[in-house]
Amino acid sequence: MRFHVLTLFPGAFKGPLETSMLELACRRGLISVEIKNIRDYTHDAHGTADDYQFGGGAGMVLKAEPIFEAVEDILGGRTPEQRANIPIILMSPQGSRLDQRLAESLAGAEELVLICGHYAGVDERVRQHLASHEISIGDYVLTGGELPAMVLIDTVSRLVPGVVGSQENVDGDSITSGLLQHPLYTRPVEFRGMSAPDILRSGHHAEIDRWRRHESLRRTLERRPDLLATAELTTEDLSYLRDLGYEPADS
Ligand SMILES: C[S@@+](CC[C@H](N)C(=O)[O-])C[C@H]1O[C@@H](n2cnc3c(N)ncnc32)[C@H](O)[C@@H]1O
Repeated sequence: MRFHVLTLFPGAFKGPLETSMLELACRRGLISVEIKNIRDYTHDAHGTADDYQFGGGAGMVLKAEPIFEAVEDILGGRTPEQRANIPIILMSPQGSRLDQRLAESLAGAEELVLICGHYAGVDERVRQHLASHEISIGDYVLTGGELPAMVLIDTVSRLVPGVVGSQENVDGDSITSGLLQHPLYTRPVEFRGMSAPDILRSGHHAEIDRWRRHESLRRTLERRPDLLATAELTTEDLSYLRDLGYEPADS
């Protein structure tokens, strides 16, 4: 998976991309992240990438020309068919909300172009005539699109085979599995009077799986009952949930 990022602040990506699993994924060639400084596509002596808003108002707006030129540089040499398969994503609080399903659909592409806005935002012509997607990471406003782009890179990268050691881990994650995950414990067994459940050290794999499934169902019912409407539930799951007071909408 190749990510191309357009930003005025390339340094913002250094830490996350040089840490832990993403650093390893880059080193092993499973993902690559190519950062382009939007300022490198300006043509005046000052490298002007933002300007005052037409109509007045506080806050600078990122100019359209350098962003169009940077995207054209990235896509240069690609056939129209190849270009059509590369999502061009404007990070924006006005976009579709990023969730696991959207991340899974983006992970199907071989390359993604991510445009990071800053200040008051980006010239509207980028959204209308260049971007194919507009994505928000949640209903709050950040100073720039760098953290949102990093969030998207991280969540999509986890779905690239080999980035996370075991596919089982990815499939069993909260949300991905359709439910919230069961609680996790590691050594020591006793810590300040708090103990890990005996069942997890019993060696009875069927019993452990059953305990984990029940904890996962209980936790989902308590915290995210909305997920139960679309989760794949067995008759035994439903019977357990009913004992906890859950009533499926269609019953
Ligand atoms: C301060 S915001 C501009 C918000 C803009 N004035 C508006 O009301 O839509 C600056 C940039 O940060 C990024 N950004 C801020 N919040 C975001 C979010 N929740 N999701 C994705 N990008 C966001 C976008 O790239 C945006 O252009």
